[in-house]
Amino acid sequence: MSTRALWLVANWKMNGAAATVADYAQAVDEAATTAAEGVTCVFCPPTIYIGHAGKPKRLKLGAQNCHSEKSGAFTGEVSAGMLKDAGCEYVIVGHSERRAEGENDLQVLFKAQAAIAAGLKPIICVGESQADYDANHTTKALGVQLSPLVKLPAGSYLVAYEPVWAIGSGKTPSVLEIGAAHAYIKSVLGSATPVLYGGSVNAGNAREILALSEVSGALVGSASLAVSGMKEIINAARG
Ligand code: PGA
Repeated sequence: MSTRALWLVANWKMNGAAATVADYAQAVDEAATTAAEGVTCVFCPPTIYIGHAGKPKRLKLGAQNCHSEKSGAFTGEVSAGMLKDAGCEYVIVGHSERRAEGENDLQVLFKAQAAIAAGLKPIICVGESQADYDANHTTKALGVQLSPLVKLPAGSYLVAYEPVWAIGSGKTPSVLEIGAAHAYIKSVLGSATPVLYGGSVNAGNAREILALSEVSGALVGSASLAVSGMKEIINAARG
C-alpha cells in the first residue's frame, strides 16, 4: 500500500487566518516529509491566504475554486493562472458547497479545463445527495455529473467522490459503497483516474478507507483543520 499513489488534501473551506495558515503549512510540511512513499499532501487554504503558506518543501498548495476564464471583467473572481502564479499546483472544482450555490456540471467542466490549461491539477468533486442515496440513485447521480468530464485528457485531473450527505455530518458510506462508487467512476473516466474519497474522513476511519484499492486518497474538511488531525491521517496512509 505504501507504494500506491495517494493524495491527502486538506480543504480548509472558509476557515483560518494569516497566522494559522502560516503555522499549519510549516507543521504539515514537516509531517509530509515523513509520509509514506507515494503520498502527496495538499493544503487548500482560503485563496487570500495562499501566499501566507510560504514555500513548503514537500507540502503542495491548492485552492478551493477558480474561474473558468483567464482574465477580464469578473469582479471578485480568481483565475486558474493567478492561482498558479501564487504557488498553487492543485485546485478543487465543483465542491458540493459550490454546486449548492448554483455551479452546474458544465461550469465545473469549464473550470477544470481552465485549471488544466493553466498547469494546475483540478480535483473535481462529485457525489450524490441524501435523496439520491436514499432512493438508491447514487450511480445515476454520479453518471450525470461525470458525463461532461469524459472530455478531459486522461491523467490531467483527480476526482473526489464526496457524497453530499457525508460532508460535515460524521456519517460515511460503508467501505463496500465507497468501493462500488469509485469503481463506477473509474468505469466512466478510465481505470487510471485517481479517485479520492471525501466526507467525514478523520483519524479514526482514514486507515480503513485508504486501504481500499479503488481509493487514491482523501479530501478532508473539518478533521484537516488541526495539525494533529492531518498528521494522524498522514500516518494512517502508512497502512
Ligand atoms: P468534511 O468535509 O471532512 O468536513 O466532511 C469534506 C469536504 O467537504 O471536502
